[in-house]
Amino acid sequence: MQWGMQNRLSRIISPKTGHCVMLAMDHGYFGNIPGTLKCFDDLKPLFEYADALMLTRGMLRSCVSAEIDKPIVLRVSAGASMLKELSNEEINVAIDDAIRLNVSAITCSIFVGSEYEKQTIMNLSKLINFGEQYGIPVLAVTAVGREMARDARYLGMASRLAAEMGTHFVKTYYCENFEEVIRVTPIPVVIAGGKKIPERDALQMAKNAINEGAVGVDMGRNIFLSDSPIGMIKAVREIVHNNASVDEAYEIYKQGPKGL
Ligand code: 5RP
Repeated sequence: MQWGMQNRLSRIISPKTGHCVMLAMDHGYFGNIPGTLKCFDDLKPLFEYADALMLTRGMLRSCVSAEIDKPIVLRVSAGASMLKELSNEEINVAIDDAIRLNVSAITCSIFVGSEYEKQTIMNLSKLINFGEQYGIPVLAVTAVGREMARDARYLGMASRLAAEMGTHFVKTYYCENFEEVIRVTPIPVVIAGGKKIPERDALQMAKNAINEGAVGVDMGRNIFLSDSPIGMIKAVREIVHNNASVDEAYEIYKQGPKGL
């Protein structure tokens, strides 16, 4: 890997632990603004506990201080709201602007098996070409079309496909037989949190994913929709970086302040 590419990736995935906790806050790009994300400013107290922030250009400019010392993973795909066919996306941010924003990685979704599958795979390929040109790593999000099962066969296929395109790391969902997803994907894998579930279940999912080979999480709703978002992100960190047990992490969550 070129120096710049390696340096940017090392800001996201800790070279010390080999792991990362990314805070996903890009949901609004397709019109999904759950709970506290409605008032984005409320999320600021969480930033210090994240290794990287994943968000859109608009929210970065409007809601995040340019003085922040956190790597930014910038979503650069858009095109459809949740009211329409989600896979109908294109790249919506010029690479020059991503460079001006000093981002550490760029990301788009691929919707394997969906109506606009080819378009999204070509979006990813375009991003990888930009990334290679300027030394910026690319995260591929294996988004799941409405009709797709979130199983190891499908998620493994989508993650492998992203790796074959040349993406640098991939985000997918945790599923049964997750080792199979890892086995077929020769690049670092982070898991999305998915819909809000009880805190202990979300911690167990993070623990299983790390045990089974994920390098980390890119978690949103299971952190910021928790009754203790700070407790929850601290607990997830302990699992991801310090190999804490689910019981230990759950205690950390319980001791967290209520609300933000
Ligand atoms: C949507 C995304 C989101 O960042 C991701 O799914 C959000 O994380 P969570 O599921 O943990 O709320 O990439 O395509």
